Amino acid sequence: MAFSDAFLEELSARADIVDLVSRHVELKKQGGRLVGLCPFHSEKTPSFSVSPDKQLFYCFGCGAGGGAIQFAMRMENLPFADAVRALADRAGLTIPEEASDREAMERRETLYRLNREAARFFHQNLKGPGGAKARDYLQKRNLSPAAVTHFGLGFAPDDWDGLLKAMTAAGFAKADLLSAGLVVAGKTGSLYDRFRGRLIFPIIDLRKRVVGFGGRVLDDSLPKYLNSPDTPVFSKSQNLFALFLAKNTKQGRLILAEGYMDVVSLHQAGFDCAVASLGTALTPQQAMLMAKYTREVVISYDMDAAGQKAAARAIGILEQAGVSIRVLRMKGAKDPDEYIGRFGREAFAALLTGAETQTEYRLSALAGQHDLTADEGRLNFCREAALMLAAIPSNAERDIFTVRAAELSRVAPDALKSDVRRARARLGKQAGRDAARKAARPEQALQPADRALRYENTHSASAEEGLLQMVFADPALLTEAAELVCPEDFSAPLLGKLFAFALAHPDDPGLAFAAGAFAPEELSHLARLIHKPSDVAAGPQAVRDCAGIIRDESGLRRAVAEGADPLLIYRQSRRESIQ
Ligand code: UTP
Ligand code: MN
Repeated sequence: MAFSDAFLEELSARADIVDLVSRHVELKKQGGRLVGLCPFHSEKTPSFSVSPDKQLFYCFGCGAGGGAIQFAMRMENLPFADAVRALADRAGLTIPEEASDREAMERRETLYRLNREAARFFHQNLKGPGGAKARDYLQKRNLSPAAVTHFGLGFAPDDWDGLLKAMTAAGFAKADLLSAGLVVAGKTGSLYDRFRGRLIFPIIDLRKRVVGFGGRVLDDSLPKYLNSPDTPVFSKSQNLFALFLAKNTKQGRLILAEGYMDVVSLHQAGFDCAVASLGTALTPQQAMLMAKYTREVVISYDMDAAGQKAAARAIGILEQAGVSIRVLRMKGAKDPDEYIGRFGREAFAALLTGAETQTEYRLSALAGQHDLTADEGRLNFCREAALMLAAIPSNAERDIFTVRAAELSRVAPDALKSDVRRARARLGKQAGRDAARKAARPEQALQPADRALRYENTHSASAEEGLLQMVFADPALLTEAAELVCPEDFSAPLLGKLFAFALAHPDDPGLAFAAGAFAPEELSHLARLIHKPSDVAAGPQAVRDCAGIIRDESGLRRAVAEGADPLLIYRQSRRESIQ
C-alpha cells in the first residue's frame, strides 16, 4: 500500500514521537534527548533514546530505531500500512485516497505538471513584451531581477484566456485547468482565467512542486490579492509560502511574515529564513511544520491592529507546537517590506536581534493599552502587570520584568515588586502548590491505563480529579462544586461524565460504581482515582481552587477555539479572579 509522500510528511509532522513513545515508556530528559527503558528488549538501565528534534528513536541496547511509524509498527506489532492508519487516526488526519487509487495519483501528477507549466508561462510573460507594466511595478517596489528569478515570479496577461489558450495548446484538459483552480467557469459555463493582469507568486511545496499561486494587482484595485483555491494538490492550511527555501537557512530561526511581498523582500535583503502563511490565519499544521525545521520563530506581522491581533493568536498556536517565540515590533513602517525599504537591511537585522521575547511583548502590549501619562492609567497598568508578572514561574525572569514594568509606569521597583509578591501569594496559592507538586511528581494526574481515555490536558485533569476525589469523599461538597462548574467544563470526557453522574445522584455518587453507566475500563480507572490517597486538604476552599482551574482551562479552550486573542482572555480571567 503506497501513501503519498506529502501525506507521510504531514503525518510525521503531526504524530509527535515524544508523545507517542511516552504512552509506553517513561522518558527522562538528558541533554537534548529523552531516555528511558527500551520497550523492545528487557533491560535495567536505560539505553533507549528519543530525539525530539529529529523525531527519531534509537535503542543502543538492541539496535531498534526509526521514526513514529516504525515505533508504532514494533510496539503494536502492525504492518506498515496499519501503523500509518493508526497514527493518522490518532492525529485526526484523514488518509487521502490511497494510491491503490492509481487514477487519482495520476491526476495529481497532471496537476503538478500543469501548475509548473503555468508558472513557466507567467514567468516568460513577465520577462517578455507583455510584461513591461509588471516589470515597472517590480522596479517601483525595489524587487531585483534576481529575486524575480529566485521566486519564479510571473505576470498573468491582462486578458480572459491567455493562460487557458496556452495550456490547452500544450495538451492540458480544461477539466485539469478547472481542478487546478487556474480557470473559473462563468455563469454560462464558459471558462476564463482566474488570474488576469496580476503579478504572480508561485506557491511551491517542500518537494519543490508548484502547488498554487497568489496574484497581486498592479494598482489599488480590489481584491489586492487573489489566491488559488484548495485543490487536490494544494491545501492552504498546510503550506507556508517560501518554506521550501527557508528550511535550508543557516540563520537558526524562521521569520513568520504576513505577506508574499514581505517574504520576497526579506529574502532579497538576505533574510533567507522568512516564510508567510497564505493569506489566512496561522494554522496548527503550519506551526508544526515550522517546528520541524526550527527552534525559534520570530513573528513579524504588520503593525496595524489586525496584524497585532493575528500575532497574539499566532503566539498561542506556536506555543502549542513547542517552538520558542519572539515578536518583532517595527516603528515607522507597517510591515517588514516597508521597513527594509525605508531603513535598510542593517536596521532590520538590529530589530531582529533585539526582538522581544514573549514576556516583553506581552508587557509592552499591555503598556500600549493604558495611558501611562495619567495616574489612573499607570495604576491600572500596574495592577494588570502585577497579575501577569505573578504568573511567571522563573524568579529571575519575574524580577527582570517587574523592574521593566516599573520603569514603564515610572513606579518605584520595590513597590511593584511587593504588589507582584502579593498577587503571587493570592492567585498563585493553588497554582504554586500545583507547580510544587508537579515538580516533585511530574505527572500529577493519574493517566488512565486505557489509551482511548488518556487525558489531553493534564493540568485541568489533575484539578478535575482533585475535585471528584473530594466530592466522592464528602458529598456535602457537591453543592459548592455544582455552583462553580458543570460537566461540560471538564477537559476529560470520562471525568466530566463522572461529575455529571455525581450531580444526578447527590446523595450517593458512589452509585456510579454499581449503576452500569460506565464501561469496565472506565470503572477500573475511576476506582483507582477515587481510592488514590490525596494530599490536598479537602474543603470548600480546595473545591473552589480546583473549580477555578477547570473553569479557566475550559474558558481558554473555548475562546481559543473561537479564535480569540489569548492576551485578552488572560486579562479577563485574571480580572475575574481578583473580584
Ligand atoms: P497585505 O495587505 O499586508 O499585503 O496582506 P502585503 O503582503 O503587504 O502586500 P503589498 O506590500 O501591499 O504589496 C498580507 C497578505 O494577506 C493576503 C496575501 O497573502 C498578502 O500577502 N491577502 C491580502 C489576500 O490573500 N487577499 C487580499 O485581498 C489581501
Ligand atoms: Mn506590504
